[in-house]
Amino acid sequence: MLKSFQSIFKEEYQSIYQAPARINLIGEHIDYNGGKVLPAAISLYIKAWVRKNNTKNVRLYSSLNDHLYICPLTNIEYKEEQGWTNYPLGMIYTLQKHGYNINEGLDIYYTSNIPAGSGLSSSACLLDLTCFILSEEFNLNISKKDIAIFAKESENDFNNLSCGIMDQAAISLGKEKKAILIDTANFSYEYKDIKLNDGYTIVVMSTNKPRKLTESKYNERVKECNIGLKTLQKEYKINNLCELSSNDLPKIKELLDPLIYKRVKHVITENERVYRFIEEMKDGNVYNMGQILNESDESLRCDYEVTGLHLDTLTSVSRNHPACLGARMTGAGFGGCCIAIVKEKDIKDFTKVVKRKYYEVTKIKPSIMQVEIVDGVKKIA
Ligand code: GLA
Repeated sequence: MLKSFQSIFKEEYQSIYQAPARINLIGEHIDYNGGKVLPAAISLYIKAWVRKNNTKNVRLYSSLNDHLYICPLTNIEYKEEQGWTNYPLGMIYTLQKHGYNINEGLDIYYTSNIPAGSGLSSSACLLDLTCFILSEEFNLNISKKDIAIFAKESENDFNNLSCGIMDQAAISLGKEKKAILIDTANFSYEYKDIKLNDGYTIVVMSTNKPRKLTESKYNERVKECNIGLKTLQKEYKINNLCELSSNDLPKIKELLDPLIYKRVKHVITENERVYRFIEEMKDGNVYNMGQILNESDESLRCDYEVTGLHLDTLTSVSRNHPACLGARMTGAGFGGCCIAIVKEKDIKDFTKVVKRKYYEVTKIKPSIMQVEIVDGVKKIA
């Protein structure tokens, strides 16, 4: 901590909580289309030091911007000038809307080592963490699954991002060494071992490109999928796009506008790639897993169009290194992060070469991280 909790709030903290970031192994941009997704929680965290403050105000401080926000617990509204605190405030608002009684203020001091704007889902992390804190501090007994549901609702309605459930679920339900296979059509889930044979591991790489327009572009894709779904529902009895299969594509092509067809094609083929990836992961077949990551990335680049120069450069320089079996963007895209399957013993050289080549093209230094797969949100003290 740069400044101490004591120096900000004039009292000592009572508890410490943490929530992890997440990666998605495969199943991108299909969690709002009823698809299956395969995220995992990773060892980058937002931590929060907390005390009840015996007032009717919540006081929020982040070591990242050194400003103390003081907000009444009643009549909470989204306001541009509230900046990042719109996430914790939105969470309080959402729980109040559901009838939870939050009648005393909290002092919360947040710190984070999740690279800002990296697409590793720091917003869902902040939401889940705050929801969990509220549940613990006020004995609300909100289940991990409901934390994800409320956090998603808060992000959709208060922060106006039409995201699916993947991030909030991964961060709340995460488990050490496991990926979570989530069926977003009915929010059921099961844990899967992340098995990688022959000394390979997963590397996370951030483009470190400042993200712009991510929210509006994201919402645009959601709208395009909804247009596709509405049109196809005239022909097919479906509730969501992922009920279709790639055998339907020739017919679908005739029914849709070319741009919407490309979006729908990504969604349908990506969902099928999730099944294939899981089959390969059972046996730890890293060569085929790497190949499927590359196919996914190609589809996100050409059909879904959510990558761009920075992500494309980072994935292609990674793939060109002999230690790498496959790479793809992870998360929303438009900047943000990639994942790659890389031979563990060659990581040093991989890192050196990828950093140099990426910098030559973009004049930005990327971050390359080896992370652990960890548990979801919890109280640590
Ligand atoms: C963001 C959203 C998720 C998901 C991914 C893309 O991270 O929050 O719900 O849609 O993008 O797969």
